[in-house]
Amino acid sequence: MLSQEQNDLITRTAPDTPAGAMLRRYWQPVALVDELAGTNRPVKPVRLLGEDLVIFRDDKGRYGLVGRRCPHRGTDLAYGRLEDGGLRCAFHGWLFDVNGQCLQTPAEPDGSNLCANIKQKAYPVVERSGILFAYMGPGEAPALPHFDCFVAPDTHTFAFKGMIDCNWLQSLEVGIDPAHTSFLHRFFHDEDPSQSYGKMFRDTTIGADMPMTRIMREFPRPRIEVESTEFGLRVVTLREMSKDHTHVRVTNLLFPNAFHIPMSKEMTITQWHVPIDDTRHYWYAIFTSFGQPVNKDEMRRQRLELYELPDYVPRRNKSNDYGFDPHEQEHDTFTGMGADINVHDQWACESMGTIQDRTQEHLGQSDKAISAYRRILRQAIDDTRNGGKPLMVLDPKTAPQLTGPAAIDGVGPTADWQGYWQQTDASKRKAASWANGR
Ligand code: FES
Ligand SMILES: [Fe+2]
Repeated sequence: MLSQEQNDLITRTAPDTPAGAMLRRYWQPVALVDELAGTNRPVKPVRLLGEDLVIFRDDKGRYGLVGRRCPHRGTDLAYGRLEDGGLRCAFHGWLFDVNGQCLQTPAEPDGSNLCANIKQKAYPVVERSGILFAYMGPGEAPALPHFDCFVAPDTHTFAFKGMIDCNWLQSLEVGIDPAHTSFLHRFFHDEDPSQSYGKMFRDTTIGADMPMTRIMREFPRPRIEVESTEFGLRVVTLREMSKDHTHVRVTNLLFPNAFHIPMSKEMTITQWHVPIDDTRHYWYAIFTSFGQPVNKDEMRRQRLELYELPDYVPRRNKSNDYGFDPHEQEHDTFTGMGADINVHDQWACESMGTIQDRTQEHLGQSDKAISAYRRILRQAIDDTRNGGKPLMVLDPKTAPQLTGPAAIDGVGPTADWQGYWQQTDASKRKAASWANGR
């Protein structure tokens, strides 16, 4: 249970807040590459950490992220013209480049020097594995770690996003809660795993002749081991199936606002929860394959069944009770909300309220990863406030050392579960064409 003050400290992310300052020390997802692709006008308004911005790709292919209000008279640059090496305001034609520098003020007298002193707010943008990341903090941007999702080739990654109608933190805390999968995502009947391509959580577990869904259903009371690492937390969830065999699930918290989990035998999911503002956020995910190249069209088609463009809003949401069907809840699924686990998670996150009231919660043993995460979160907020360098703000020397991390769902010997997941991760890497020798 937290005090109101503690809850506010870790949930509020506007520029003038301690957690907002901390989150701005890292690259944050701002859009999918897909959102600016396939159009001859790649310009889109975005809201990130409570700031209204416009993202665009200029005529030289450079990405820019600038403040949405024109610094001349305050009109909306999202309606601007993409031309002449920048974004031109539709009101009086002022032109801004990707760095926010004003290049032209065409209504001013010949020889005017006004634009030299006009700089629009602008943040650097980099592209990684289908996601555009922005750095909104002070000074030099940190280096990105060499995690699998960033070093895998484009052929082996797929990126997607979705809107969630609540504060970012409660969703991240759902993502690192290893107990909920046995309940929230319980299916009373298992699907044929060979039909599961691109679906979350429906594959066979490594080393067992059993779908993940069956193991989750039959072993709901896990032992959870949480370990501090240089990237955040490793969470190993153990479900003892017999004296000799234990189901081992290795998941990770990637500080500050992402987690990394196994999705199937071949694929992992790295997922950020990034505030639009304090009451809505987006999840952004990179799916990384250690086996065959991903079928991006198929994965996108599957996900667009649930999410509606252009804002990636889920079709099942609070306004239609997430498709809740009491008959289905009795016979097929724990929630009665269909087979897509994104819908289950969406309901769990949103039904806690816009910003979960943590003064009323009661954490148990099975929530130990959440407690551990809140400790490092508060530490990083303090470090930022005191002018220090919080966890995972990397320099170019340390970033390449941060690789992996392991994300495993398999069954191994009860007596050596640690050796088992390390070995399984090593063989997975050895078998992957792109990860070989890493
Ligand atoms: S308001 Fe943008 S150019 Fe005048
Ligand atoms: Fe979940």
